[in-house]
Amino acid sequence: MSFITRRRAVDQRPATQGEHELRATLRWPHLMALGVGAIVGTGIYTLTGVGAGLAGPGVILSFAIAGGVCTLAALCYAEMATLMPHAGSAYSYSYAGMGEMVAWIIGWSLILEYTVVCSAVAVGWSGYAQGFLAARGMDLPPGLAAGLLAGQAGGLVNLPAVLITLAVAGMLLVGLRESANLNLGLVVLKIAALAAFVALTLPAFDPERFTPFLPFGFSGQVGPDGAPRGVMAAAALIFFAFYGFDAISTAAEEAENPGRDLTRGIIGSMAACAVIYMAVAAVAVGGSPWQVFSESGEPLAFILRSGGHDLAAVLIAAVAVVALPTVILAFMFGQSRVFFAMARDGLLPRALARISPRGAPVRVTVFTGLLAAVIAGAAPLKLIAELANAGTLAAFVATAVSMMILRVQRPDLPRPFRTPLWWIVGPLAIAGCLYLFWSLPALTRWLFLGWNLVGLTVYLLWSRRHSVLAGR
Ligand code: ALA
Repeated sequence: MSFITRRRAVDQRPATQGEHELRATLRWPHLMALGVGAIVGTGIYTLTGVGAGLAGPGVILSFAIAGGVCTLAALCYAEMATLMPHAGSAYSYSYAGMGEMVAWIIGWSLILEYTVVCSAVAVGWSGYAQGFLAARGMDLPPGLAAGLLAGQAGGLVNLPAVLITLAVAGMLLVGLRESANLNLGLVVLKIAALAAFVALTLPAFDPERFTPFLPFGFSGQVGPDGAPRGVMAAAALIFFAFYGFDAISTAAEEAENPGRDLTRGIIGSMAACAVIYMAVAAVAVGGSPWQVFSESGEPLAFILRSGGHDLAAVLIAAVAVVALPTVILAFMFGQSRVFFAMARDGLLPRALARISPRGAPVRVTVFTGLLAAVIAGAAPLKLIAELANAGTLAAFVATAVSMMILRVQRPDLPRPFRTPLWWIVGPLAIAGCLYLFWSLPALTRWLFLGWNLVGLTVYLLWSRRHSVLAGR
């Protein structure tokens, strides 16, 4: 069979067992915590402000659009993750639905999503951490405060971002279960802080702040920096805030009861976050002039401070510093599992997939940690958040397409979760993702294309010959 079209059977167990097998230790509260831990992060804590600067009060619509597209995609993910509870997420689904070459491209795109998200969140975290230190008179020297590419005077390396990335990689190496339990506690803290933000800001809510509602229109306008603005440009950025539920699907192989645990984990975490976000965004715009808080690097703390809640502002910043690393944790976990699945299929060096006696894939975790740290140390937040979005959108499209192909070609398969109205939900998810992708800045789309051309070269020169399906 041609390398382009050869597919892995849906019900096929992974190619190797034993030292390459992951342990089933996770139940749905862990998975839901992993999901919420991955979703609630730099997106809502930091990009809410950037999004409001792009769309004005219409950022509420941006949240609704990005959340709607993610919900449609989450339904497709729930079906595919329960149908194929093997590590690898959209990469594995594409392998079964569309063949090896598409699967490779999606796996390569997932590197953008998972690794670059870790870097983006680390940069967002660094902003809060530096604000926190500065308030105590401990300013970092400019050379260690921002990366070389961040456009900040004197910036060489974003040291806090590098350190937090490496620290989280270390946690994953210590062992999954311990990390998952700690994650649960931090997730509760992070949600409590957002709830407190809503409760404290609500009394200052003024509907007048919603007019004019769309100062920069819906789409098609260009800002002073040449990048697009308006509701769709903000939606394409805010999309960052919503994903993360897909990181759960990469833990499918480690779920005790994939049918029940994955469905609850994916749908539950997505629904909970959508509700919380809409409340936070509405209260932020109603509680403070968007023209002002959109300039802040820590918008939620800023809004609280300007409302006279100084202590709460300090506390929410502290929670961001303590809890945002859960996002890095979840995505780094996801990335190591995708590398793991690709290596196990022979598309990346097999030695990468070896599991330590503690149950962690050590080499891929170290590799992911180092790669994410290098990017976090050098690059600016908006650029890498949008790049991560491009990779994620590709993975979402591939998952929806694979779900539809398998519904048609293998209607007989046992599906613990079935996407409702799949012939509507699937195409809508695909169309929504493509629209968001198109709303990203042109530079992001070009970088995404360039990244995949590099990936395709690697595939054609090395991976297709070493694939397990090639019979080697
Ligand atoms: N959704 C994650 C965040 O907002 C990536 O940080």
